[in-house]
Amino acid sequence: MELMLDTANLEELKTGMEFYPVDGVTTNPSILKNDLPFDYYAHLKAIKELCGDKRTFHVQLGAENWQDMLEEAREIWEKLGKDVYLKVPVTQDGVKAIKEIKGLGGRVTATCIYHTIQGIMAIHAGADYLAPYCNRMSDKDIDYIDVISQLRELIDRDGYEAKILAASFKNMTQVTQAIYAGAHTVTVQPALLKSALHSPLVTAAAEVFTKDYNRVREGK
Ligand code: G3P
Repeated sequence: MELMLDTANLEELKTGMEFYPVDGVTTNPSILKNDLPFDYYAHLKAIKELCGDKRTFHVQLGAENWQDMLEEAREIWEKLGKDVYLKVPVTQDGVKAIKEIKGLGGRVTATCIYHTIQGIMAIHAGADYLAPYCNRMSDKDIDYIDVISQLRELIDRDGYEAKILAASFKNMTQVTQAIYAGAHTVTVQPALLKSALHSPLVTAAAEVFTKDYNRVREGK
């Protein structure tokens, strides 16, 4: 599996990368908005530098129609390089943009997936990653476990290389359910990871062991 951080905050990213086994970073315009003011490309470049060669970086396109998406893709390639994963919302224009970007040798993370059919179209259009929005689906009474497992079944059955990058989490139960439903990758806000690892049960258990360790070392 892979773990990505769903944030554009440089401090959160530095700490997250120091503490967790992080394979990549995902952003979207709404996440970036939280860290304004900044120079757009300078900020994205700083994140890409933190990612280095070993982690993937996923940047969302903001344009609405496929022609503008393609223009934006070219701008991102020029500023950040072609190894960035372009997040493309799976609309009708998005599917066309995925085909075009892949035809030009770009990398794509198909995003805003609420329905299996969007994932199917994105897989067949050549997307590298698919991002189902788990919590947002739950809010609309859509079963994200079904969507993820159906997409995983198709990928495995037909031998596609696309990976499922489950996103939009509000608790760790959603994260673990997504992984066991078949997500290859999850992207999680660092604050959510941190709160999960600060469970009072775990902290209390670890404290007892530290206390006992100190006694054992003192021999009394
Ligand atoms: O990576 C996509 C994700 O950030 C969407 O999450 O919290 O806006 O539903 P949210």
